[in-house]
Amino acid sequence: MSYEYERVATPVSGLRLHLNENTAGCSPAVIEALRTLTREQIAEYPDYEAVIEATAARLHTAADSLLLTNGLDEGILVASMVALRANTGDGEGIVVVPAFDMYAACTDALGGRVIQVPLGDNFAFPVERLIDAITPSTRIVWLTDPNNPTGQSIPREAIVGVATAASHAIVFVDEAYADFRGRTLIGDSLLRQHANVVVGRTFAKAYGLAGIRAGVVIGDPVTIARLRRVAPPYGLNVCAAAAMPPAFRDRAYYDWYVDQVAQSREVLYAGFERLGVRYWKSDANFVLARFEGRGPAIASALAGRGVHVRDRSNDPGCEGCLRVTAGVVEHTRRFLAALEAVL
Ligand SMILES: Cc1ncc(COP(=O)(O)O)c(C=O)c1O
Repeated sequence: MSYEYERVATPVSGLRLHLNENTAGCSPAVIEALRTLTREQIAEYPDYEAVIEATAARLHTAADSLLLTNGLDEGILVASMVALRANTGDGEGIVVVPAFDMYAACTDALGGRVIQVPLGDNFAFPVERLIDAITPSTRIVWLTDPNNPTGQSIPREAIVGVATAASHAIVFVDEAYADFRGRTLIGDSLLRQHANVVVGRTFAKAYGLAGIRAGVVIGDPVTIARLRRVAPPYGLNVCAAAAMPPAFRDRAYYDWYVDQVAQSREVLYAGFERLGVRYWKSDANFVLARFEGRGPAIASALAGRGVHVRDRSNDPGCEGCLRVTAGVVEHTRRFLAALEAVL
């Protein structure tokens, strides 16, 4: 079986609710900072001191506990490289499915065997089956909290159980959507007690920096040093390094956007209920809804009206499901009007 990232068509116009992007755009302070970049700064390799300090302060962690990456995608790749570099052919990466494609793609690309553990009924986290799947060959366990595409969070004690059972492996907790739930493992004693656990974060979502590519991996300084050893030295580009500190300083924008997402989720729940559509409450900036056999047809009818959502019908357990980004409330209302017309 081959695993690869499923590239979705990128529409040139319309309402993009298919990639969990920030639908408002980044903070205006980011654009101001980018305008001040000089020709020399573009010509030189970036200096990371200021952006490392700003990120550490924003995430309430220490500079030696973090590695800045070219989007969280690069953090996933680097963690896979560290986990599988000494692979003698038997290394395994465990993925709880449905999941973000990059975990299996990177595990597979680096010669690891992908072990899939499906979520339980109603997308319940399969802690016992996951622990049973851990073997001496396990090199990395991929967790997403909250999960993409279901939006469900993982109970903290389940992460502790996995971290303990896989103490010989890296446990990668992808917190790409944690801004929208308001809970994180960063600063949690779990990270101090389990040096094998690392947390991945992206600034693509709540900060609206997806196009500039900005992510970070946080963990025990010794584990992060292992990642730093194989990470490209200039993964974060100079525009990202310039954009992040002003994005972090603009707390009003961040708070406003996180609140828009929270309101949009409620608007979606109410809309789906009114239309008789099954959905799952989400801790992230998207909601998964089931349209039975009509999922793909509804996605293309919506696209015909310029509203792009993600068809997740082919994901395990997600038959007939579409994933809709919850962003600016006005955009969510436009989606619901289009859905109503299509239904
Ligand atoms: C669960 C998860 N992890 C990581 C990423 C990638 O983040 P980035 O854009 O920072 O590479 C995404 C993007 O959608 C995601 O859904």
